[in-house]
Amino acid sequence: MEIKMKVKIGVVGAGTMGAGIAQVAAQAGHRVVLTDTNPEQLKKAEQQISSSLLKLTEKGKFSPEEAEEIKNNMAYSTQLSEHQEAALVIEAIVENLAVKHQVFTQLEQVVSPTCILASNTSSLSIASIGSCLQDPSRFLGIHFFNPATLMPLVEVIPGVATSNENTQRIEELITSWHKTVVVCKDTPGFIVNRVARPFYGEALRIYEEGLADFATIDWAMTTIGGFKMGPFTLMDYIGNDINYTVTETVFAAFYYDPRFKPSFTQKRHMEAGFLGRKTGRGFYNYQEGSVAPAPNRNEALGQQIFERILVLLINEAADAVFMQVASPAAVDLAMTKGVNYPKGLLAWADELGAGWVLERLESLFAEYGEDRYRPNPLLRRKAREQSKFIL
Ligand code: NAI
Repeated sequence: MEIKMKVKIGVVGAGTMGAGIAQVAAQAGHRVVLTDTNPEQLKKAEQQISSSLLKLTEKGKFSPEEAEEIKNNMAYSTQLSEHQEAALVIEAIVENLAVKHQVFTQLEQVVSPTCILASNTSSLSIASIGSCLQDPSRFLGIHFFNPATLMPLVEVIPGVATSNENTQRIEELITSWHKTVVVCKDTPGFIVNRVARPFYGEALRIYEEGLADFATIDWAMTTIGGFKMGPFTLMDYIGNDINYTVTETVFAAFYYDPRFKPSFTQKRHMEAGFLGRKTGRGFYNYQEGSVAPAPNRNEALGQQIFERILVLLINEAADAVFMQVASPAAVDLAMTKGVNYPKGLLAWADELGAGWVLERLESLFAEYGEDRYRPNPLLRRKAREQSKFIL
């Protein structure tokens, strides 16, 4: 089977991600069927897609005729059997293995033998989801970022059973949807949700040690580091419940490696209902009339904070390469396109010198004696050989 442009695409789950993914596929010219067990959710998704297309038309991205055609190419149903003609079905339902197994077992009976099946899971392994299929070689992960219509990155994750042919077809197909595709190994957090952990975790740790407050850490990372958002502003934006759960899941999946240890501060904020923007209060207060706290603009302190978080991020990026999760170029692309980092972390390491990064990590390791600061062997090698990550 050849996946050609304009084949029929199925999306299961019409929530935040499913609706966005369906819209992306339809905008790329496919006929799309979006299914959900909840008819209300389907209505909501249809309205959301309509209003998004209207906005895009106003911005000049589509003509009114094109927007109409995209809408006409989309169908909504509560029946999985509507995916009968699909060449690819992407599942984006609740993050629960048993429920995903139920859906894929049913789907496999409905679709053609050549139809590729995929999950948008963030935290379950591709191997575990695909194990319920009679033909797991047709199954892989296609991980979009929220909002799927705007975020350019898509991680494509073959499982141990996925055929190379199917991975390649999906890479080509998703690239044709004007997305940046990175292929990565079926390991916890894939690339972005693994490599980004220190951005949150080390910021929380610095706060917990009393070195600086939220506003100062955010100021250091934005003004000195050049990141678009500081860690605390970003955690408030993502939601402390969601961000904490990702950290906890990655921590457990790595057999409790202390590098990924979650923070009590974030847990307490979550327990208190300080989830972030969505509840009006997180690390900051978003209620009307509240005044944003001023940072301590001490340059030396800011530089120290920025460097400490950056070297941990670089160490994590090096580990992803060292453990063959993805190539150096894919890791850098993932972090710039998936979470808008100002530079690829490995290109940043090359610029600063692996030796410089290693020196800082070693001094943190010597000071704390904690495994979270242990330098990665690949970073050590690069420092020793004075070579670069990105050739
Ligand atoms: P959501 O809660 O917004 O939507 C889930 C949808 O699935 C709901 O509309 C629900 O009615 C439907 N559903 C539940 N059981 C179903 C079933 N058996 N058959 C058909 N439909 C069913 O969830 P969200 O946030 O869109 O997440 C979906 C998936 O995408 C999860 O696996 C999640 O880990 C992943 N993901 C989420 C991201 C996010 O930022 N929200 C980012 C990337 C991946």
